[in-house]
Amino acid sequence: MVTGHQLFINLAYFIHLIQNKFLKHSEKDIEGLRKSGRIVARVLLEMINVLKPGITTFQLDQTAGKFLKLFKANSAPRKMGFPGNTCISVNEIIAHGIPNKSVLKCGDRVNIDVSAEHKGYYSDVAYTVILGDSNHETNKLLECAKRATLKAVSMSVAGICVNRISKIIEEIAREDDFTVIKNLCSHGVGTQLHAFPENIVNYYDPEETLILEEGMVIAWEPYISTCAVRAIETENEWNLTTHNKSDVAQFEHTVLVTGGKPEILTTLD
Ligand code: CO
Ligand code: CO
Repeated sequence: MVTGHQLFINLAYFIHLIQNKFLKHSEKDIEGLRKSGRIVARVLLEMINVLKPGITTFQLDQTAGKFLKLFKANSAPRKMGFPGNTCISVNEIIAHGIPNKSVLKCGDRVNIDVSAEHKGYYSDVAYTVILGDSNHETNKLLECAKRATLKAVSMSVAGICVNRISKIIEEIAREDDFTVIKNLCSHGVGTQLHAFPENIVNYYDPEETLILEEGMVIAWEPYISTCAVRAIETENEWNLTTHNKSDVAQFEHTVLVTGGKPEILTTLD
């Protein structure tokens, strides 16, 4: 006879097997993901190269289009109906910014998020830049956001529960008196941009039990804010902002969990 407890254990084990089927990639998949990671990183670097006051986010996005085409990759947001090759979010727009004709100026905070598919494999990378000189508080925010992402990436080793990583992200933000945007998540990546687990929160969730295993690929992308905790929609269906228009910075990397040191697939070196 199967007791309720045994049934629960068997069910939990079954769910675990199913999850791993979606999460763990084969050597062939990993090679595909490495290639796609190199492409999005290169596209982002090409965009940062041309980013300067006086150009429009539309022009910046054209550069992305040119290089995606060169590398035979497809824009992931475009595949989802987004009107642009990349998301370029400026100042109070914190995510999913639609490239447009407004001219960038000194002091603007620009977030560029490049996600693309190459031969069926996705990768995701993002970077925040201040145009021209920035003040101490903004520099501190950017450094904190970068530190949170890099720490999450370096902690992505087999055997760790993802909620330990999320907890550290939240602690890094708190140490600098900043907040985490709670309704924007990190996520698994694979043959879809948002693969299982689709929503990894960037704060401590005691109910999160997912353990990282070799072969999993995660895009860490905590949004760190001066004081907001939620992203809200704007009048168009894509652009996200915060209720108090606070400053937000975000850096994103796609990382492969290995038997040893985590491998950043979107390295910008
Ligand atoms: Co992402
Ligand atoms: Co992204």
